[in-house]
Amino acid sequence: MTAATPSPSPSAATRWPRPTAHFTPTTGWMNDPNGLVRHGGRYHLYFQHNPDQPVWGDICWGHAVSTDLVHWEEWPIAIRPDDLGEIFSGSIVIDVDDTAGFGVGAIIAVFTHDLDGLQRQSIAVSTDGGRTFAKFDGNPVLLPGDRRDFRDPKVVRFGELGNQWWVMALAVGTEIWFYRSDDLREWGRTSTLRPDSPWSEAMIEVPDLVAIDDDGVVRWVLLYSVDPPDTAGPIARHVRWLVGSFDGERFEPSGGGVLDDGAHLYAAMTWSDGVEAPIVIGWMNEAEVAGRDATTPWCGRQTLARSLSVDDAGGVSALVQQPIGLDSLRLSTQRLLEIPGAVEVASSCFSIRLTGPCTDLDIELRSGGVDATIHAAAGSFLRLDTPVEHSEIVDERLELDDLLVVVDAGSIEIFTGDRRRSISSLTGTGVGPTTIDVATGADTDAAAHVVQYERR
Ligand code: FRU
Repeated sequence: MTAATPSPSPSAATRWPRPTAHFTPTTGWMNDPNGLVRHGGRYHLYFQHNPDQPVWGDICWGHAVSTDLVHWEEWPIAIRPDDLGEIFSGSIVIDVDDTAGFGVGAIIAVFTHDLDGLQRQSIAVSTDGGRTFAKFDGNPVLLPGDRRDFRDPKVVRFGELGNQWWVMALAVGTEIWFYRSDDLREWGRTSTLRPDSPWSEAMIEVPDLVAIDDDGVVRWVLLYSVDPPDTAGPIARHVRWLVGSFDGERFEPSGGGVLDDGAHLYAAMTWSDGVEAPIVIGWMNEAEVAGRDATTPWCGRQTLARSLSVDDAGGVSALVQQPIGLDSLRLSTQRLLEIPGAVEVASSCFSIRLTGPCTDLDIELRSGGVDATIHAAAGSFLRLDTPVEHSEIVDERLELDDLLVVVDAGSIEIFTGDRRRSISSLTGTGVGPTTIDVATGADTDAAAHVVQYERR
């Protein structure tokens, strides 16, 4: 964070105020979350980072920590580029059994070294609680053969005590390759999966293999990001998931879907140590919003953190996401808005939560000359229209009662009542005072709670 940063023009700072509940880098560029790990009573969020400019390039691992997932403290850069290349995405494990020989409890990052497109996997070790990392002198530990896109290792510990090994899920072109290792240094390939995607030639990125404890039964979930061909447009990028069985070598999917129906959730990763319930977070690509350029001091935000579980209600597996952490931001006001009704909020971060049965719903948000609308009909559709993007969910099970909308200086996240579907989108709304107008088509007992959040 030492090199020259373009000084922010006042107009850019005004147009792009910091969100309250979402993590943004102090300066420069941020994309994927990396190395999500809980250690020393903190959530560690490493991230793809260019500290010098608000554009992608010279990528290292930035680092931030939090105890509640909404107040973040940025720590010094954790892993910098070297002769083997830039530091692309990856994960972190804690080596409690000292399998790699760096010491009991060593924090080990497994990441992609990218040298002008040559992608190899490497490891680095921290013995100071994740603050600094020393790269292994035997790097790289895994080579691509003749493959070009060969990156984003997610490593997990698999097996019962006494018979455990490391598993790596790696994005390789249009596939996910699985490897196993006893010591994080030598890896043997075990299987290949070509996951579902709407485009056969879409590149897969950032796989995340997660074990979810469902009342004592372990469910395996595989998240992956889909980067379609250029013709599909940048916002066609999205995250998908598979649920299935995993035997430590091979993943057998039994169901799956799309993680989020909005335009701006990509490269989702989890805090998943098998001890506590997994939490997912993803990158919202600020750069896709028109008008964002090198005069803006920072670029990129992460979504709200969301707890992740599998729900099999109705015989169809779904992933359930529940945003967490908002309660630890001070609630300045809580208003119950009769429907139809309107209210103005001063804070640029607020939520609207619907209670009571509701069949048709219209929410209009007006701030700083920018409008966004949410239209919904229970059991049919949910649509978000913003100056940036139009997103829609069509689902005959759609639940409106307990719908949750979170607005935070330029982004909206909408969660359906059952939390099985979400829309995450950058918007341009919620910057400055916002008028919220809520209406329903038919007679209803529904009401809307409006809560404003402020940083303590
Ligand atoms: C996903 C991605 C990863 C890669 C990283 C580079 O957004 O393309 O596949 O490791 O970003 O910053």
